[in-house]
Amino acid sequence: MSDTQAVTPLLELIGIRAGYGTIDVLHGVDLKVLPGTVYALLGPNGAGKTTTLGVASGQIHPQTGSVLLTGHEVNGVSPDRLARAGVCLIPEGRGIFPNLTVEENLRMCTYAGVSYREVQERAFTQFPRLRERRAQVAGTLSGGEQQMLAMSRALATDPAILMLDELSMGLAPIIVGELYEQVATLAHAGLSILIVEQFAREVLGVADEAAIMLHGRIQRTGPPAEIAEELTAAYLGIS
Ligand SMILES: Nc1ncnc2c1ncn2[C@@H]1O[C@H](COP(=O)(O)OP(=O)(O)OP(=O)(O)O)[C@@H](O)[C@H]1O
Ligand SMILES: [Mg+2]
Repeated sequence: MSDTQAVTPLLELIGIRAGYGTIDVLHGVDLKVLPGTVYALLGPNGAGKTTTLGVASGQIHPQTGSVLLTGHEVNGVSPDRLARAGVCLIPEGRGIFPNLTVEENLRMCTYAGVSYREVQERAFTQFPRLRERRAQVAGTLSGGEQQMLAMSRALATDPAILMLDELSMGLAPIIVGELYEQVATLAHAGLSILIVEQFAREVLGVADEAAIMLHGRIQRTGPPAEIAEELTAAYLGIS
């Protein structure tokens, strides 16, 4: 995209400093997710990626800086209200109910005014494997199937921005590839997506913009192809 300046980002973080109690984790984070695009935030263990998503979803209040949703400041707005405004986070570990069946998990997310029938239909159309496993207890699904269920639950709420924390964690490359195809499809349909990953290069195949985070700072941002080249250096500590 060439005229990025003219487009109001769906989500924007400006100068975010945040942490836990007296521990500072983010030291001035800026990022923009433009409408209908995929932004990949990459970085090693402890870089501050999950904390960034916590700030963006209203779970962590920044000490300084602004969180903007379609240009409106939403600092201090509760996670619930942000969720109703279309901010949807799939947390690390996927946030499904392991003791409930696939169908029961889907039934739990119909508060957004979408009927259960429609939630189920969308889920099973997008991920046919879930239809076969509808009566299975979610905790016994494969990791990839659990991620499909988590994505189905998220999409049932008709989000404006979907945030995914380590989509590929613990999954075989072929499954990761399948999930990323779905991510690309969703982005083409207009959804804005912010994805956090440690290292997965697959995400760079679908991202429009990528960034490397180290020690609570975004070190580098740019087109995915350029970021791919820099990833190795970043992880080896060469700057
Ligand atoms: N609840 C918490 N209380 C105190 N410190 C925390 C808390 N959660 C995270 N931290 C610290 O904040 C830093 C950043 O953690 P964060 O979870 O954001 O990293 P991450 O980039 O998501 O790492 P990973 O790739 O391992 O998930 C780490 O040093 C971590 O120990
Ligand atoms: Mg994390």
